[in-house]
Amino acid sequence: MCGIVGYTGPQPAVPLLLEGLRHLEYRGYDSAGLAVVSANGHLEIRKAAGRLDRLTESLKVAPIHGRVGVGHTRWATHGRPSDENAHPHTDCTGRVCVVHNGVVENYRELRDQLLAQGHHFTSETDTEVLAHLIEVELTELPEASDGEGPRLLTACRKALDRVEGLYAIAAVSLDDPDLIVGARSRAPLIVGLSAEGNFLASDVPAVLGETRRVVRLKEQDLVALRPDSVLIVDRYGRQRERAVDVVTWDRTAAEKAGYPHFFLKEVYEQPEALERTCAGRLVDDHVVLPELSGLDVESIRRVVLTGCGSAYHACLMARYAFEAWLRLPVDVDMGSELRYRDVALDPSVLCIAVSQSGETADTLAAFELARAHGAQCVALTNSVGSAITSLADHVVYQHSGPEVAVVSSKTFTGQLTTLLLIGLALAERVGRATPVSLQKVVGALTDLPRSVQEALATAQDSSRIAERHAHVNRLLFLGRGVGYPTALEGALKLKEISYIHAEGYPAGELKHGPLALVEPGSLVVVLATRSATLGKLISNIEEVRARGGSIIAITSRGDDLIAPHADEIIRVPETVELVSPVVNVVPMQLLAYYAAVARGCDPDKPRNLAKSVTVE
Ligand code: G6P
Repeated sequence: MCGIVGYTGPQPAVPLLLEGLRHLEYRGYDSAGLAVVSANGHLEIRKAAGRLDRLTESLKVAPIHGRVGVGHTRWATHGRPSDENAHPHTDCTGRVCVVHNGVVENYRELRDQLLAQGHHFTSETDTEVLAHLIEVELTELPEASDGEGPRLLTACRKALDRVEGLYAIAAVSLDDPDLIVGARSRAPLIVGLSAEGNFLASDVPAVLGETRRVVRLKEQDLVALRPDSVLIVDRYGRQRERAVDVVTWDRTAAEKAGYPHFFLKEVYEQPEALERTCAGRLVDDHVVLPELSGLDVESIRRVVLTGCGSAYHACLMARYAFEAWLRLPVDVDMGSELRYRDVALDPSVLCIAVSQSGETADTLAAFELARAHGAQCVALTNSVGSAITSLADHVVYQHSGPEVAVVSSKTFTGQLTTLLLIGLALAERVGRATPVSLQKVVGALTDLPRSVQEALATAQDSSRIAERHAHVNRLLFLGRGVGYPTALEGALKLKEISYIHAEGYPAGELKHGPLALVEPGSLVVVLATRSATLGKLISNIEEVRARGGSIIAITSRGDDLIAPHADEIIRVPETVELVSPVVNVVPMQLLAYYAAVARGCDPDKPRNLAKSVTVE
């Protein structure tokens, strides 16, 4: 949700900032802007509502030059997408300039105080107060160095002390023209180190064209970047050392690599991503997860799974497995609901929070709540060093690789697979499931990359079906058991990227409501792979057909039970039922993708959405 970049060094900043922003557009695309410190000692700012291309075009018409600068791509929270509300924002003097990812929750109060002091504002954003707060602190700081590093660094630190909310910022000031100051609190920020200058960015792909050496800033860190030095301090101004990581994947992992869209590329990357998720974790019919060795398994009486969006669906699916394998009560809650429920949490609860980005505000808040009640807290994430990791007792990474499309595909199947690994690892330790059933699941997980590869071979069927029905305005997805959350995920994918209204429903509930929507011509997608409840599902299918509805069935290869009941069929490889959502979701991802393309929608950047939702 918003991407920020910064560069200070010997090279022209504008192309580097634009390239960085291009790799952060997944974080928001309502507007883009940048500011550079020009050679003649001015802050040159360009902003444009709309996608990054508009900013790029405006820079061609009226170029700006400098070797130090910051940039921003926006997902609007406060203030509609417009040139005025686009970042960067400046103070009254025009000497300080800030880009921001996050939300200043107390911005009204701060703005009122600043207005009373004579400051004037030019945007409706919460961010603008930051520039003014830094201006105030700079004015009040003594001219001489105070021993805490550059004045801008101290000013940012003091200004941010007054801020409630979450942020990653980058600030420049004409008073110290080769300096960029960055700071983070519950929003990501990395430093890229290069012989040709230093970078700041919300995410690694933004700097990968220039360097693989990155420092992942920790919570409440601030950083002062110059062309040839990096100083990191904590919120009290104490100097901190942070490790330098060398990123092993290259930028092609964050490029389209010949695919028309990132979404399609990421759907096709699933077999390889799942190989990575399971690598070294499935050994001799057992799951090896040393990350959880410190967990006090004996004391767990209840499991709470939480996440948002597709991560929530992964939790819903995992519940079936956890209940079966652990014989414990398992609650699943969306982060946005759990955080405000008066829920009984205590040290006997194991809370697993799932967030590929590790940034989702509601998931973080729910996780904090569980932590505050003494629950054992496990974070499942794809993002090394993300905010969620600092709240967790134990962290399990899914290793899905970078995902650029706003809606998740490979990170969703990675989340679910990792949850299944966690469930198996716990089951082995609590010893309540039969070893034979666990072994079968280990076998299914070992085969999973191949099963998903085979499911991808159904792309032609999905494409044909999606094109044929691309004109429909609503669709129902039905399933039973783990097929129900799979239906939810199928419906979510379709509505997110093709804007067709879709609902996922448990098939058994059909007659309690949604059947009223079925009329001749209605289209219903049914998750009908082999399962304990397939017979019941066939009855539900017939209820639809009796009212003139058409059925698109996703069935197990080699299973002829469904064929007489369906109008169109997509056949996927069979796997263990509790693992089947990982395979069955693939044709639904493809249906959504081809429907989006047929309707002229951009599957990578759906309207109004952003990949990392760092606001409530
Ligand atoms: C956004 C994305 C979804 C994602 C959800 C949770 O809504 O568009 O694809 O599932 O956030 O993301 P997380 O990073 O917490 O898994």
